Amino acid sequence: MKENIIIFDTTLRDGEQSLLYSLTSLQKLKIAILLEKMGIDIIEAGFPISSPEDFKSVKLISKHIKNSKICSLARCIDKDIDTAYKAMKYSYNKLFRIHLFIGTSDLHIKYKLKKNFTDILDMSVRSVLRAKKYTDDIEFSCEDAVRTKIDNLCKIIEKVIEHGVTTINIPDTVGYTIPSEFSKIINNIMNRVPNIDKAKLSVHCHNDLGMASGNSITAIQNGARQIEGTICGIGERSGNTALEEIIMTINTRKDILNFKTNINIKNIYKTSKKISQICNFKISQNKPIIGKNAFSHSSGIHQDGILKNRKNYEIISPETIGSKKRDFNLTSRSGRAAIKFCMKNMGYSKEKYDLNKLYKNFIKLADKQGRVFNYDLESLAFTKNFYKENKYFKLIYLEILKKYDNKSKILIKLKCGKEIKKMSIFYKSSFVHSTLKLLRKISKINNIKLKRFSSESKNYKKNILNKVKISISYKKLNFYGEKITSSFTKSYVLSIINVLNSIRKYKIINKNFTNSQ
Ligand code: KIV
Ligand code: ZN
Repeated sequence: MKENIIIFDTTLRDGEQSLLYSLTSLQKLKIAILLEKMGIDIIEAGFPISSPEDFKSVKLISKHIKNSKICSLARCIDKDIDTAYKAMKYSYNKLFRIHLFIGTSDLHIKYKLKKNFTDILDMSVRSVLRAKKYTDDIEFSCEDAVRTKIDNLCKIIEKVIEHGVTTINIPDTVGYTIPSEFSKIINNIMNRVPNIDKAKLSVHCHNDLGMASGNSITAIQNGARQIEGTICGIGERSGNTALEEIIMTINTRKDILNFKTNINIKNIYKTSKKISQICNFKISQNKPIIGKNAFSHSSGIHQDGILKNRKNYEIISPETIGSKKRDFNLTSRSGRAAIKFCMKNMGYSKEKYDLNKLYKNFIKLADKQGRVFNYDLESLAFTKNFYKENKYFKLIYLEILKKYDNKSKILIKLKCGKEIKKMSIFYKSSFVHSTLKLLRKISKINNIKLKRFSSESKNYKKNILNKVKISISYKKLNFYGEKITSSFTKSYVLSIINVLNSIRKYKIINKNFTNSQ
């Protein structure tokens, strides 16, 4: 029988405190609902004493969430504990958890709390008894446990369990430990604390050395049955344990980890994406499990291997976590098999195009452009003169004129096939959006929306070069443009024109196909 691992999410508490802007109560409620749907066992909704807004959020979440247990953080101070209770007393079925914490390492005791270990023991016991007036579900965290003397750690754990604590949490507050050391600490607690069987053991790791997930898994192997962390690993400094990594490690390595969780793993992709959007937190491309590259394959050998048997280069299939299909990054390292696969994904059987010719042209474009997108591939296959069509829209003239009244004017002359069109627009603050609006009007390509744009400046042989990268959506498809020139304005305009040419080719091809069917 597989043992269950409790998944405790602290995105709304430890995660939120690391964000540049705090979330509103409504945003926090949205996150809590997503976590509940994903099957999170315990949601740490906040630290109610920290601010009236946090109190309000915890109260709101407690009233709404029914399937996950709500928990609030409190220092070992009466007022904190009473406030945590007041924020959660309306919870569904009156079930909630109070999470007490206190620094236990010499460093924290001496320099942060300015006390001695006996004071810490007394404060802890007093607080446990106070929390017990409100609930039977009490978690106790020994802050900076990893740097706490093992004798002190065992002593305080035994004492608080004796007074009614039901979950003992061992935080690696500063992300300092490594798996071999952490397994010894957990082992010591399991073997030396006589009443440890009366409580669940939990761990809470930070990722300062990139060890958070490894340490958490080691802890499970040594007796921990609750893992604390956040979605996408959002958290103080380098973050907390990324829960999706733990959940998927347990799910993927069933051969050596005889455990399970209550998580609906099909929700992982959608939940993490939505939460990162609400938190305005960018998921790095190579983030395990949920990063953009987690299921994209770049090298030709890997792409070929995946097509022969996906297990060659994939330990998790994207569908498992509810993600879209896997993706191939088409570059000059890609082979014919990958081209055929991408064409098939777009609905083109091999009889519809000449693979050898397409491959030859693809390599030429890949050498020039770096990454080749699906829409490029499509137009290489079906556009008679790809490079000529690439220049259908061409910038002839661009000028930004400063006007009075804080206004500026963008003037653009654009070649559109055989015609040259000239138009302008006034703008006050948003050059980026006004330029797109103007180009939309001149090109007559409507329904385009700026999804993302980034710019960077580099010094190059005494000149400054400005690189702009944009992503524009058109009919649910994303098109990418990139340009580097000596001015940001010009790079931005040219990268949009890049995209406009790609969209135009896409429109022609799709019109031809619709007509011929
Ligand atoms: O990292 C930490 O020590 C914490 C505790 C409050 C659990 O977040
Ligand atoms: Zn923490």
